[in-house]
Formats: sequence, structure tokens, C-alpha cells
Amino acid sequence: MYVNKQRNCYTTEKYENLSDQFEKLFPNESFIGDDMLINNCNMHFNVDEDFSNLFNSLALSPIYQQMKWRLHILDYFLEVALKSDGSYVECGVFRGFKSYFLFKRHKDKINSRNKYLFDTFEGIPKKYSDGSPITNDEHRKRSLHEFIINRFAEFDNTHIIKGAVPDSLENVDVTDVSFLHLDMNSWQAEIGALKYFLPRMCKNSIVILDDFGLFSHREQMNHELPFLRARGYRILELPTGQGIIHI
Ligand SMILES: C[S@@+](CC[C@H](N)C(=O)[O-])C[C@H]1O[C@@H](n2cnc3c(N)ncnc32)[C@H](O)[C@@H]1O
Repeated sequence: MYVNKQRNCYTTEKYENLSDQFEKLFPNESFIGDDMLINNCNMHFNVDEDFSNLFNSLALSPIYQQMKWRLHILDYFLEVALKSDGSYVECGVFRGFKSYFLFKRHKDKINSRNKYLFDTFEGIPKKYSDGSPITNDEHRKRSLHEFIINRFAEFDNTHIIKGAVPDSLENVDVTDVSFLHLDMNSWQAEIGALKYFLPRMCKNSIVILDDFGLFSHREQMNHELPFLRARGYRILELPTGQGIIHI
């Protein structure tokens, strides 16, 4: 069992005790992870062998192992997005866990598409961190940029853009996006990215805001919800914390 101390930073102790009891009560039908205690679910993705085998081969530590439901959501919506021609974009890549999983899983269809991976590779910039529960050193790891270049070298048409979003968007021209994943833990950066990408999304494309629904990251929702509503978008909030927008 794993309790994500970083994300659920306000209720960790209670949650930890509760998860212990929960697991004992419902050992076969419950999901414990990503701050969720869920009971009485089939979780068909657990018996999808291709999905599970790939997930298990990549999720090598508890922090990743507890993200299985989140990856199921990403996997489903990427498949939807791949029905439209268009590029893949992720802002907030870190070690590339989610994108690498998705690229492996959908290699046949996604390899020929343009794929853009944006990150400072030096953690959240100070100027965009007000209201975020994440500190700059949290994602500041040595040689992260080189690690990502090597990790994604097996895929064609992958563009790795180092720099702070939205500033780094001034130097690129990305059009026809069918899948946009925003995972920067910074409402300032994500609103900047939305301003740039929303007019560049294809019809029937998908935007996923990784932390939109998390209470611990609620400054993101406080800013992103009015921004999106003012432009006529509705957001599907999921218990994984993800917010989904179908364009
Ligand atoms: C939660 S991690 C991303 C996790 C990643 N999607 C995965 O699959 O594991 C957040 C990342 O966002 C990056 N980041 C934060 N603010 C940023 C900004 N303004 N511009 C670019 N990258 C940023 C950090 O450097 C960090 O690597």
C-alpha cells in the first residue's frame, strides 16, 4: 500500500490509518492510491494484460505504482485524441513517466506524429510558483534534460523543449494539437499554456489538467476554472485529480 504524502499534504495521517483499515476490509475490490480510497470496483484495466504488463514494467517505485488509475484515464483519452490528426503536447515532463508509458502503449499510431515535451528540467520556476504546494527543488534532479533526451530517443518526431512555460512558447509554433497534458503544478504556467494552446487545438481534441481537482493544488482550480468558463469550456473533474476538457 502507498499513501502519497506529497499530494495529500493536509490529511496524511488520518488517510494513512484509514487506508490500512480499508485494505483489510476490502482486499480484492478496492483501489488505494493517488489519494483515493475506492471500493466495489471492477477495475477492468487491471486485467488488461498489455496495459498492466507495460505499467508494471515502468512503475518501479510506489509513487508511480499508485498512479495506475490515472494512467488508465490518460490511456483512454489519448486513444480518443488519436482519432483526430494532430500533435501530442505535454507541459511538465519530469522523468517522462506518463509520456513514455503513452508513447510505448500507442507507438504504432503516435510515432509518426509530432510530439512536444516542454519542461524547465530544473523544477518549477520561482516566478510561477505562488500558490503551488510544490517547491523548486522537488523536481530539480541532476542531468534531467539529458535523461529525457536519451529516454525518448527511440521515438521519431519528438521535440524536447527546455525552458519555462509560457516563455518558451514564444520560440515555437505548434499547431493542430489533438492531445494536451498540463502537469506543471503552477496555475500561472498552465494558464499561459492554455492561452497559447486552446486556439491551436483540433476539433475533438482533448486537454487533461493533471492536478485540477486536487484540494492540495486548489489554486490551480481557482484560476483555471473561471479562465476556462469565460471561454465556454466545461471541465470534467475526476477523483484522480485530473480535469478533462473535450474540445
Ligand atoms: C509533476 S512533474 C511532471 C510529471 C510528469 N508529467 C510525469 O509523467 O511524471 C512537474 C514538472 O513540471 C515542470 N515545471 C514546473 N513549472 C514549469 C514551467 N513553468 N515551465 C516548464 N516546466 C515546468 C517541473 O520542472 C517538473 O518537471
